[in-house]
Amino acid sequence: MQIKTLGDEMKTRPDVDYLFKPRAVAVIGASHNSAKIGYRIVENMVQRGYKGEIYPINPHGGEILGLKVYPNLAEVEGDVDVVVITIPARYVFDAVKECAAKRVKHLLIITSGFSEVGNAEEERKIVAYAREHGMRVLGPNIFGLYSAAASLDATFGPGGILPGRVAIITQSGALGIAMIGKTAAESLGLSALVSIGNKSDIDESELLEYLARDEATKVILMYIEGVKHGDRLVDTLKQVTRKKHVVVIKSGRSQRGAMAAASHTGSLAGADNIFDSIMRQCGVLRAESVQEAFNWARFLADAPIPSGKESVIITNGGGIGVLATDACEKYGVDLYDDQQVLKDTFSDVMPDFGSSKNPVDLTGQATAQDYERSLEAMLSNPDMHAALALYCETALFDTEEFAALLKREYARYKEKKPVVFSLFGGEKVEEIVRELRKEGVPVFSDVYDAVSCLGAMYRSWIKMRQPSGGAEEVEIDVAAVEEILDRARDEKRGFLLANEAQEMAKVLGLSMPESIMARNLDEAVRAAEKIGYPVVMKVVSKDIIHKSDAGGVALDLLNRDEVVDAYQAIMRSCRAYKKDALIQGVEVVEMAKAGVETIIGARQDGSFGPIVMFGLGGIYVEVMKDVAFRAAPLSRREANDMIADIRSYPLLLGVRGEKRKEIDGIIDVATKLGALIDKCRDITDIEINPLVVYEHGHGVKAVDVRILFKTTREVR
Ligand code: COA
Repeated sequence: MQIKTLGDEMKTRPDVDYLFKPRAVAVIGASHNSAKIGYRIVENMVQRGYKGEIYPINPHGGEILGLKVYPNLAEVEGDVDVVVITIPARYVFDAVKECAAKRVKHLLIITSGFSEVGNAEEERKIVAYAREHGMRVLGPNIFGLYSAAASLDATFGPGGILPGRVAIITQSGALGIAMIGKTAAESLGLSALVSIGNKSDIDESELLEYLARDEATKVILMYIEGVKHGDRLVDTLKQVTRKKHVVVIKSGRSQRGAMAAASHTGSLAGADNIFDSIMRQCGVLRAESVQEAFNWARFLADAPIPSGKESVIITNGGGIGVLATDACEKYGVDLYDDQQVLKDTFSDVMPDFGSSKNPVDLTGQATAQDYERSLEAMLSNPDMHAALALYCETALFDTEEFAALLKREYARYKEKKPVVFSLFGGEKVEEIVRELRKEGVPVFSDVYDAVSCLGAMYRSWIKMRQPSGGAEEVEIDVAAVEEILDRARDEKRGFLLANEAQEMAKVLGLSMPESIMARNLDEAVRAAEKIGYPVVMKVVSKDIIHKSDAGGVALDLLNRDEVVDAYQAIMRSCRAYKKDALIQGVEVVEMAKAGVETIIGARQDGSFGPIVMFGLGGIYVEVMKDVAFRAAPLSRREANDMIADIRSYPLLLGVRGEKRKEIDGIIDVATKLGALIDKCRDITDIEINPLVVYEHGHGVKAVDVRILFKTTREVR
């Protein structure tokens, strides 16, 4: 065991290492009854061949599976690093006290009946006590832990876990246990499997940090139901994905995030949408289903890191080749495109009637030898980086022979280039697919499944190649920001008036249309003449937040008469809207020239903390919901990725001969809002709607800036 090597490392590393490499494990609640969880756990530890000491604890004493049973932990002579607790909830706290007296390091609390059923108080009490006594808690409400590093299966799952390179962290118990069976059925080897249950103490972030350091782990697969400390998780994931592939399955595509609907940033922020965006930011691969996650994990665990992004499809069927090309487009897999090189590489090794274009079509008359020679030719061309080999069952081709060929080729490719296979045909072909998969060959019946693996690999690869480093520091004059907020707070206001928003924009260095505050009609006319027509007029009243709804906005006023009429109309409608509203006057604003209307905002998210949102603006914003998110603060590259994530991105690049728009200007605003929402946690929502984006070189304009914040200063 690795125990002896722990010493020095433990001085610098948190003791989570002991969780995965314990020297001795005790089971409080080890049962003599083979139907009970407390028996099953001991049985799995014995069967898996854990080489440390196993101490079953049960007041009845005796033996379980030939192991001496101790009546209590105090009677165990040796040190115990990990204790598995599997007794009813009401006895757990006393057991934890016993563990403290024994100076145990980690507790795996299997028992249910805590915060998941409303008994949060007892859970807090246990964790607080454990932490005070230098112990860490995994769970409660878990099915246990498997660690290949210690040959330890301390779960009550079905057993039979194979050691390998994939680590699984799961929040769901039932699904996690089912995954054990599935990994065995699919011959997917695991380096670790951790059930995190209620995450009362040890959470995903801490486990990820360990797994990132664990040499045996190449892929981390996480099943997440809800995110607790999202900002910490984001920081950790960004680091981990530089070294390992991380695949996540997240359930609950709900709209919980829409709760804070005080702004578009809130109402557009479906919780799932935010999760999706932020996982992309972190370089995490989000799978749609458990099967997809398994496919990816299995493939990535063995695939070599590609040296480039150009793939080649080799097929014996034109139709399936086209399907594969479609799939490549869907999953972002680039196809090698130098026609001359393709011809030079493949024309000698394929039938005369084939096509050397990519997909390289060997046609239905191809022999196994043609196939093999083509795969070999692709393997020896350094400019072709990954292969997708497709096979449609034909009468001419011996399927058995093909299976042997695939195994041979896979063995050749394995250390050099990524390769995936897709075989399509009858029962015989299906059987071969199943057999080859069991042997670890990445082969699929559905061509989309095969291509999706390549797509996942490339997404992860891009992240690994990105230069390291976090968000560049963006200077924000926090004192000046707080000063503006404090003035509003003095009036018990949690939002800014137009003139204050102008001041804020100045502090942040945002470009806004010129604006003058007018307290009466005369001043309004003078302001309009000074700014120059056309102008916009907006009511200024602390009692009216939604100005348009109150009829408090008039656009495109072309001359003096229109200003006079609009002023009177605004006063009338606002009084009708809210009789006792105190109206300070109107804001006369330069009418912004037309450009691409976007919306950009930032807010404190319940799961992820400070986040930034960007999307296409205008009147269809609610319908289109074409928005993307990133955790804040964000770097310029991350801001650029967020902008490129929206479906309407081509509008910003310029369509039909239009010029490219001022994307750098949007990046400036996004990074500033990110820094502001991160530094001033009392600000709950910022929204610029619209942020008008002009042609490259002509900047962006924040037409309306809305900021919501807590009326009492909480964070200092
Ligand atoms: N120290 C040591 N052993 C103790 C003990 C103590 N303080 N108190 C009781 N025991 C023994 C019992 O005598 C029994 O052994 P026996 O069968 O040989 O008599 C064993 O511990 C288990 O106790 P028991 O009262 O029979 O509980 P149980 O096995 O029916 O249930 C749990 C215990 C933990 C399994 C149950 O409370 C539970 O939480 N189940 C849900 C677990 C779960 O699903 N977790 C989440 C998965 S994702």
